[in-house]
Amino acid sequence: MVPSSPEAQTMKKPPKNTNFVTGALNFVRIHFSSHPRFWLFIAFLWIQALIIFIARTPPPCFPDRTTDVSATVPARYVAPPSNDDDAASNATLPDAGPAPPYTDECPSGRIYAYDLPSMYNRDLVLTNCTDLDPWNWECGIITNHGYGRAATELRRILPEDLYKSWYHTNQYTLEILFHHRILKHKCRTLQPESATAFYIPFYAGLAVGKHLWMNDTAKRDKHCKMMLRWVKNQPYWLKSNGSDHFMTIGRITWDFRRLTDPGKSWGSSFLNMPSMNKVSRFIVEKYPGDEMDVSVPYPTGFHPKTRDSLIEWQNFVRDYKRSSLFSFVGENRNWAENDLRRILMNYCYKDAGACRAVDCAVSECPTNSSIVLKALLESEFCLQPKGDSFTRKEVFDCMVAGSVPVFFWKTDYEQYEWFLPGEPESYSVFIDHEEVRSGKTSVKQVLMGYSKEEIRMKREKVIETIPRITYGKPNAGVRTFKDAFDIALDGVLERIKEEKEWADFLR
Ligand SMILES: *[C@@H]1O[C@H](CO)[C@@H](O)[C@H](O)[C@H]1NC(C)=O
Ligand SMILES: *[C@@H]1O[C@H](CO)[C@@H](O)[C@H](O)[C@H]1NC(C)=O
Ligand SMILES: *[C@@H]1O[C@H](CO)[C@@H](O)[C@H](O)[C@H]1NC(C)=O
Ligand SMILES: *[C@@H]1O[C@H](CO)[C@@H](O)[C@H](O)[C@H]1NC(C)=O
Ligand SMILES: *[C@@H]1O[C@H](CO)[C@@H](O)[C@H](O)[C@H]1NC(C)=O
Repeated sequence: MVPSSPEAQTMKKPPKNTNFVTGALNFVRIHFSSHPRFWLFIAFLWIQALIIFIARTPPPCFPDRTTDVSATVPARYVAPPSNDDDAASNATLPDAGPAPPYTDECPSGRIYAYDLPSMYNRDLVLTNCTDLDPWNWECGIITNHGYGRAATELRRILPEDLYKSWYHTNQYTLEILFHHRILKHKCRTLQPESATAFYIPFYAGLAVGKHLWMNDTAKRDKHCKMMLRWVKNQPYWLKSNGSDHFMTIGRITWDFRRLTDPGKSWGSSFLNMPSMNKVSRFIVEKYPGDEMDVSVPYPTGFHPKTRDSLIEWQNFVRDYKRSSLFSFVGENRNWAENDLRRILMNYCYKDAGACRAVDCAVSECPTNSSIVLKALLESEFCLQPKGDSFTRKEVFDCMVAGSVPVFFWKTDYEQYEWFLPGEPESYSVFIDHEEVRSGKTSVKQVLMGYSKEEIRMKREKVIETIPRITYGKPNAGVRTFKDAFDIALDGVLERIKEEKEWADFLR
């Protein structure tokens, strides 16, 4: 499923950028990476001071193109771009062209979603198998806008109201889920000229995933190349070379970086293509050296429709009586002899008093959600060794069930920084994988070392995080909550807006 050694790739430096504007932006990011607004603010203050000093009058609130451009631009980004000075200064009047891009409702501007030819999205989805099938990863992706079929079997283990928030969600469904949410979003505009950001609804994971295990690398790149040719002909791409464009990818980043794969054999070369350099993308596992990759949580089966059902779930997992110390859910296929997953699975089976083992190779996990959910609800901790790549969907299954994740690699903390708490020890436990393998450390001993109160505090942090790692199922008109999709979208829109402000400032 993954390149032979993704570790080797993380050592590589991100590609060098020759563009001056992005170069300057990168410089600022490196030095002020956590405070981009601080830097912008300082620049703004400094210029204001200069203007006041020279002109002895306060700077105008709205940029006026007839006065010194450098003095006014940093105050506010002026969009939409216009070749007509009058129209620009008239943009705030109600009947003067497109709506102003930044409003209280959409503080980072509006999104335009391209209407791509269906060969780049809808045609890539299998429509003849609409439920999860453990032998075919593409099945059940399309059902219910990507949420999947309702998980009615959970009626047996969950109270009435709660099982209705659960679905058989395919873990590769993110491209469909995000596309649907964008089309319904309150800040979507049908007029590209009033947009700050452009969404490319290309289902890259589906296009590439179909050909990953075949020999023909040209097939893995075909849709990617054709889609880029299409989008590069769009007028709004030409204005920015793609830096205000974004998309979603439902597979890990290593499936799209064949040219930098040590064996140069795995995956498509989509994310190696120069046109993609500036396009932001939500992706379930990012390459830490590429800031355009924004890692977002894998979708779990939990999709509450309202804020109330979310809170009810949080209370439910908080009060659940957990009878086991820890659990391990995995799919024992052909794990190598010294693969930590095999070691932990054996360990877990041997100590059934402390550990709940679920082997999804022998249990029908995808079709019966009770099997995994019950094990996670009933244990205080859940073991999360790295999967075939750095990340595992099960981390999110675990946390949504209010179980405290146990990690074995430090790299686990390098992903999802927009979503997970900043302090690893506040919500998780770390045990070094080498120490487990060599037998120096016993997982059970470490976990038994935590007091009831310490576990309670970690669990509280996990529960507090649930909304941030959950994809809600918006129900028209019903009050909902800020979920993983909202956090991802707001973050990228804000980034695109800041980038535009910078580009204007440096012009
Ligand atoms: C708005 O545009 C009209 C022409 O369309 C122009 O006469 C007028 O001065 C503009 N208003 C401002 C505030 O610039
Ligand atoms: C669904 O259709 C595709 C192509 O038309 C075919 O390859 C596949 O085997 C079908 N799958 C099932 C489960 O029928
Ligand atoms: C894949 O390609 C290699 C060499 O290019 C060849 O030896 C091998 O037989 C091919 N495998 C398949 C399944 O076509
Ligand atoms: C886009 O890229 C082309 C070729 O690299 C360059 O000539 C052009 O100036 C760029 N346009 C913008 C708006 O950055
Ligand atoms: C699902 O799994 C649970 C727990 O293992 C079991 O009790 C139940 O009968 C299963 N349901 C179905 C429909 O197979």
